Amino acid sequence: MAIYQATTSAPVNIACIKYWGKRDTKLILPTNSSLSVTLDQDHLRSTTTSRADPSFQKDTLWLNGKEELIKDGGRMATCIAELKRLRKELVEDKDPDAPKLSTFPVHISSFNNFPTAAGLASSASGFAALVSSIATLYALPCDASALSLIARQGSGSACRSLFGGYVAWEQGTSPTGEDSYAIQIAPQSHWPDIHALICVVSDDKKGTSSTSGMQRTVETSPLLQHRIKHVVPQRMADISKAILERDFDTFAKITMADSNQFHAVALDTEPPIFYMNDVSKAIIALVVEYNRVAVLKTGKVKAAYTYDAGPNAVIYTPKENVKEIVQMIVKYFPQREAFKDVFGIFGTQGVQG
Ligand code: DP6
Repeated sequence: MAIYQATTSAPVNIACIKYWGKRDTKLILPTNSSLSVTLDQDHLRSTTTSRADPSFQKDTLWLNGKEELIKDGGRMATCIAELKRLRKELVEDKDPDAPKLSTFPVHISSFNNFPTAAGLASSASGFAALVSSIATLYALPCDASALSLIARQGSGSACRSLFGGYVAWEQGTSPTGEDSYAIQIAPQSHWPDIHALICVVSDDKKGTSSTSGMQRTVETSPLLQHRIKHVVPQRMADISKAILERDFDTFAKITMADSNQFHAVALDTEPPIFYMNDVSKAIIALVVEYNRVAVLKTGKVKAAYTYDAGPNAVIYTPKENVKEIVQMIVKYFPQREAFKDVFGIFGTQGVQG
């Protein structure tokens, strides 16, 4: 009896140009394009094993060893159904000898090698690993951009985790979403010098989820309309160019400006959403001061902060500054008893290629 099983993994990505807002909530089509850096091979990954077997009762999912409900018509069910459809269309209908895996229930088991509660984007790596694992199981003749169309329907930001390095999610214009996928702007090997320092300010579960928060922003924020029409398109072009030219000064300034504007549209939402706390803001102040001194000396900034839908800081910086920044952060945010639970340095990450 043949065994049909595949294991793959996918890393977390951290956006420099933030995705915030959907024009179609079912297909997960965004109101603006976005761009991220995928973190490296060994840290912050989801690893997923999927197995198809005619003796299984139904599709079943375990996250970190605990069974999770696959809701009918939900995001998980949509991704699985889409992958089964492609298996039938692209493999079984073309080759009569191919096993009819699309008719077998599938068992999926996924683990994160980082605490899910750490407030880091586990849905991005999780859905990317799930889609790539089932696509491998089904031997789908699809490239990463084609698979990103499916991962996108699990969680928008997941589409970017199918690539390493520097990745754009093109928003697309089609109402059916076939042109809303991820592409690689440059592999990690193009600019391996950039590191991400992740500062876990709080590992509490966030108050307002990205999904509900961004929908409220779409419905109520006038600033979002300005952002998507007049700000993001230019930033996408400028940051892509900065990446291709390895221009850290421009990359960093755009990254910080976009984090600021994302949190401004969260604040412009009714009722307002606050993702950063006082420690987050103090880290911004520290990076701003660090950069002010650097600009005086060299004319260029040395670090870029960015924050997702939570208080944790990610600091991008060229490798030569990592040690100095870690020392600075530990100095200003000492790991005193009072700080122990609210501030920890998660580690430094290279980006993946
Ligand atoms: C602030 O991808 O988690 O991290 O598509 O509803 O699952 P859904 O949202 P999600 O949102 C991520 C928002 C963000 C910015 C980003 O990663 O681009």
